Formats: sequence, C-alpha cells, structure tokens
Amino acid sequence: MGFTVAVSGKGGTGKTTLVGLLLKEFLKNGRKPVLVIDADHDGNLAEVLGIKEGKTVGEVVEELQRKVSEFPPGFSKDKWLQAKLSEVMVEERGYDFLSMGRGEGPGCYCYVNSVLRHIMDGLEKEYPYVLMDNAAGMEHLSRRTTRNADVLFIVSDHSRKGVSSAIRIAELAKELELDIRKVGLIVNRVSGGDVDPRLVEEAEKGGLEIVGVVPEDEEVERFDMEGRSLLELPEDSPAVRAVRGILWKVLN
Ligand SMILES: Nc1ncnc2c1ncn2[C@@H]1O[C@H](COP(=O)(O)OP(=O)(O)OP(=O)(O)O)[C@@H](O)[C@H]1O
Ligand SMILES: [Mg+2]
Repeated sequence: MGFTVAVSGKGGTGKTTLVGLLLKEFLKNGRKPVLVIDADHDGNLAEVLGIKEGKTVGEVVEELQRKVSEFPPGFSKDKWLQAKLSEVMVEERGYDFLSMGRGEGPGCYCYVNSVLRHIMDGLEKEYPYVLMDNAAGMEHLSRRTTRNADVLFIVSDHSRKGVSSAIRIAELAKELELDIRKVGLIVNRVSGGDVDPRLVEEAEKGGLEIVGVVPEDEEVERFDMEGRSLLELPEDSPAVRAVRGILWKVLN
C-alpha cells in the first residue's frame, strides 16, 4: 500500500489547508502520483486545490440505489461501481482526486462510507502516496474510513479546546486499534513564533507529540479570499515552509 497521510482535527482548525500544503510538497518533490481523497461529506478540498470536482462517491451510490432494481439477476454491483470510478476520479497533474460527498436520505451515509472503504481498498495499492482529508471530529475513525495510515496528523488551532480535542482523537485512534504508525499534533495559525507553553504541557500530558507548528499566514488567508489554489502559494510563504519542515521531519 502507498504511503498514507490522513489529517484529522476539530472543525475549522486547518485540516483541508494542511492537505493542500502537503500535496504541494509531495508534488514538488516528485512524490507522485498521489491519490487525494476528500473524505469529508461536506468537504471543500477541490475548491482549495482549484479543481473542478467530479461526481462524488455519494452521488454514484445514489445512482446505484436508483438503478439496482433494473439490474439483471447476477449482475455485480461491484463491477458497476468499478466502472463508475472513472466518473468519480478527477485526474490532475501528478495526482488523482476523489470526493466522498454524501447520499441523500437516511441510511445512505453508512453505505457511502462502506463503498468508500471498498474503493480505497482497491485503489490504495495503485498509488505510492495517499492523502486523506477528513470531516471534523472522530467519525472517520469510528466509522473506519480511516483504518490505516502511516501518519495521522491531528490539527489544532492555538487553543486549549483544540488541543484537548486532538488528544481525544488520538486516544480514540489508539482505543480502536487502528493501524496507524505515527500520530502527531500540528498546531496551526500560531502567531508570534512559539506555541504557548501551557498548550505544550497539555499536549504532553495527553501523550500527544507536537510534530509541528504552522504560523498564521496572511498569504493563505489571501488565497482563500481570492479563491486561488493553495498549490500556487509561493515556496517561501511561511505556512508552505513550515509544512515542508514537518513533512520531512516525519518522513525521516
Ligand atoms: N496557517 C494559516 N494561516 C492563515 N489562515 C489559515 C491557516 N490555516 C487555515 N487558515 C484558514 O482557516 C480557515 C479554515 O481552514 P480549513 O478549511 O483548512 O479548516 P478545516 O479544519 O478543514 O475546516 P472544516 O472542519 O470545516 O473542514 C480557512 O479560511 C483557511 O484559509
Ligand atoms: Mg476541511
């Protein structure tokens, strides 16, 4: 299986931004092709990367549910889904992108999750690198859309609440005995250089290693406002530099 990096954390802490910056770094260093998965049902990773989203897995699942009664006996749902993958996958330079989306109506959510897991089982073997953005909170762990990863980055803002939430996520990952090699906390949007020592202490107490700090970056904010792809951020932008450092530290 490819080298898989999953990103988790409380709402609005910068998960999607981090995935964008990690992808930028992977591509720059020829670490490709990358499979990029937006596993947030309400995700905006495509927007952050400046690409047009294809059909979502959720939409395909809906279509399957509408059509399944018309399938001839013995017709394989799996084969149908595999064939539909080409409509879901967006091929970009150096990476392929797929978005989970969600099906409408009760029950669909779980089914979409299980289809996504199934798709991932098949695809992960084909890509040397996999990057996964997740919805806020822990559902992606308890529903096991994230089951295995070489690295799980848990993102927090520069707040006690963010760090406490990150600790809970790390604890759950452990409890569920997911196959995750390394878990590390990234504190994002830090102004003035250092993480407040009280947060460092909090993380240490919770047994969570701070693997990196990403500064508050005006350029990230500006790109967001202007709807520009984070992949186009200048190489010397503070957040880009910080993520570069974090990635190589973790990879080595
Ligand atoms: N280091 C940074 N400097 C400046 N702005 C940032 C930084 N990191 C993230 N942001 C901004 O913070 C906002 C939230 O970031 P993002 O969407 O990445 O968070 P998220 O954790 O993915 O949110 P959600 O839980 O809704 O998926 C965005 O407007 C983004 O541009
Ligand atoms: Mg997000």
